[in-house]
Amino acid sequence: MPRFPKNFVWGTATSAYQIEGGIAEGGRGASIWDTFSHRAGTILDGSNGDIAIDHYNLRDEDIDLMAEFGIKAYRFSIAWPRIFPQGVGNINDPGMAFYDKLVDKLLEKDIQPWVTLYHWDLPQALEDRGGWPNRDTVLYFVAYAEAVSKALGDRVKHWITHNEPWVFSYLGYYMGTHAPGEQDLWAAVRATHHALLSHGIAVPVIRSNSVAANVGITLNLAPIYPMTDSPADVMAARHHDGWLNRWFLDPLFRRGYPEDMMHLFGQYKPGIEDGDMAKIGTPIDFLGLNYYSAHYVRAVSSDENMLGFSALGPEDLENFGFELTEMGWPIVPDGMTDILIQVHEEYEPKSIIITENGAAFADAPVNNIVDDPRRVDYLRHHLEAVRVAIKNGVPVDGYFAWSFFDNFEWAEGYTKRFGLVYVDYEDDNKRIPKTSAAWYNRVIEANAIVD
Ligand code: FCB
Repeated sequence: MPRFPKNFVWGTATSAYQIEGGIAEGGRGASIWDTFSHRAGTILDGSNGDIAIDHYNLRDEDIDLMAEFGIKAYRFSIAWPRIFPQGVGNINDPGMAFYDKLVDKLLEKDIQPWVTLYHWDLPQALEDRGGWPNRDTVLYFVAYAEAVSKALGDRVKHWITHNEPWVFSYLGYYMGTHAPGEQDLWAAVRATHHALLSHGIAVPVIRSNSVAANVGITLNLAPIYPMTDSPADVMAARHHDGWLNRWFLDPLFRRGYPEDMMHLFGQYKPGIEDGDMAKIGTPIDFLGLNYYSAHYVRAVSSDENMLGFSALGPEDLENFGFELTEMGWPIVPDGMTDILIQVHEEYEPKSIIITENGAAFADAPVNNIVDDPRRVDYLRHHLEAVRVAIKNGVPVDGYFAWSFFDNFEWAEGYTKRFGLVYVDYEDDNKRIPKTSAAWYNRVIEANAIVD
């Protein structure tokens, strides 16, 4: 049985707003997701994260369950509005204490904590000051990173500044499908720049508070395939790659923003000030990569469409014979090998950690058992794709399955289940481990892909 490298990190991931609930507990302030989800028509099932899966109250039992299933590393995010209810000011001690206890509990169970500082729940008070399109948010984020790394940096050694800046910038400020629900391209482009800048400035701050820290950023990356070899489709794919991948990778790896994208954005350029690009290019210890699917792109006519709406939707993909998950995303394990090789060859990060990978399926308990063979297949094929990348010399050092639990899937509410553990929302958020949890446990124990 081919094994993964020694010391390969095996984990699972979650994020604060998706699981915690307890939105008014311990002095927590409001986040943009509280505001957004309470606005009519934003969330598919009309739900919100007020209770989510009640992890705020079930924290210790949840960690016990992770330990029972052999999880070695846990990637979770800190809710900024628990630490600074108004985004800035004095630390809210009960908020910090929640994570302090979480970290201690993880260490007691021999589970490595991997902290994500920003997984989309901006304090509403900071959105009221302009949110990510406002350059001041950069320094607010750095102050927040300083406070958290100071409090937890003696025990937490693995840090992720941001989760998927493309998603929170474009879905949040341009498409309007995520919080705060704006539809303004220029705001979105500025948001990407400020997110990257806040990352770059926070990296040395975290390092100064956390000795020998391992610090990175997580991007949602995907290979972009043109539908045909026509020059127009090839160009469209190149642009899409620029928008989703290169816009973030190029500056992080000290190349500045890609020129073709600066040109395409036209008047909507980020406000770059002297020294910004050097800060964004601060060396990182690892690149976090979230992979769910590949994109297939064809050329469309108008300029604006070039920025994102040229990717094929679920219906087209199904007609082309792709198998889709409940999200309508095509299952493309080879795409994971491709993007890993692409990133490795182009940018040579020292280390890549798969910080998320997983799939939503319509799971349902039968006699208290949740059998999810399609998720096991999905995970198996994607782990095989990771192995192929490693064989090709890509330094992949860890893998986090998304997610340990079913949870609040943003605009999809509770209608999409990504967990290795089923959550019965009708029955007090009861946890029922799925077949995939037991399978993943065996993978971790064997350090290899098992049947
Ligand atoms: C990613 C997010 C994560 C989860 C998965 C399905 O984009 O980082 O919170 O919603 O998608």
